[in-house]
Amino acid sequence: MTTELKDKPPLGRVIVVTSGKGGVGKTTSSAAISAALAKQGFRTVVVDFDVGLRNLDMIMGCERRVVFDFINVIQGDAKLKQALIKDKRLETLSILPTSQTRDKDALTKEGVEQILNELKTEFDYIVCDSPAGIERGAQLAMYYADEAVVVTNPEVSSVRDSDRVLGLLNSQTKRAETADAEPIKAQVLITRYDQSRVDIGEMMTVEDVLEILAVPLLGVIPESKAILRASNVGTPVVLDGPSAAAQAYEDAVTRLTGTELEMRIVEERRPGLFRRMFGRAT
Ligand SMILES: Nc1ncnc2c1ncn2[C@@H]1O[C@H](COP(=O)(O)OP(=O)(O)OP(=O)(O)O)[C@@H](O)[C@H]1O
Ligand SMILES: [Mg+2]
Repeated sequence: MTTELKDKPPLGRVIVVTSGKGGVGKTTSSAAISAALAKQGFRTVVVDFDVGLRNLDMIMGCERRVVFDFINVIQGDAKLKQALIKDKRLETLSILPTSQTRDKDALTKEGVEQILNELKTEFDYIVCDSPAGIERGAQLAMYYADEAVVVTNPEVSSVRDSDRVLGLLNSQTKRAETADAEPIKAQVLITRYDQSRVDIGEMMTVEDVLEILAVPLLGVIPESKAILRASNVGTPVVLDGPSAAAQAYEDAVTRLTGTELEMRIVEERRPGLFRRMFGRAT
């Protein structure tokens, strides 16, 4: 599949992973989604827009390989190919790390546009890991996006912030400002879902979340210890052996690439889970 795709011009789709609220799973999801896309044979780069925090390279397990970063390229101190890190596990996956600078103005709109345009000539998918909030950094991460994955936890404050982000996607982005452009395709990814807490009314149901946000559902990622285990060893969860979370991310990415797949909630520790997972045809 990889070789087959390499002969074709790159798709160059820009996907922003955003949320509004902090700590809901954007970086975890960016890593998992980009690794799953690369596993499916798509040339994929994941870009860290969270200037100052620089979490993505740790989750991807390449923090010791960072020499130049996104900001160095924008400032003309390095070429893009000097800053891109090729993943050691998947030849179709690259990472563009960011800098730990405190200067939040280091990212510029023109710089971001230039780098994204260059990445589009080489990659099928450009996954942008957004910082939290709805300020400048988050707005820059979404500005040039073609699609958005809005990461939401099933609780009121997270859903409310995601709703604000959906408002921004529809108003403050290049596609929103361009008269004849298709709007950004936004989909919600519910993460840290715990059925037992939903059952006792401690967590919102999937239906409640969707009723408020009114955008299509990309997938439901369960609360899972596999996430912590994977991030501790610097491996995106989809490359860290079978788990409910990995399966749920793989399903979401299959949908992201346009393949119809029945929605299901894959859970940890529930009877039948492993049968379903290992029995899968792919
Ligand atoms: N499905 C999950 N199950 C269990 N823990 C999870 C899950 N998803 C994310 N986490 C944990 O939640 C924490 C926050 O995740 P992450 O860093 O991906 O969030 P974020 O939205 O990128 O945060 P920030 O807004 O600070 O950038 C991490 O400790 C991560 O391991
Ligand atoms: Mg993050």
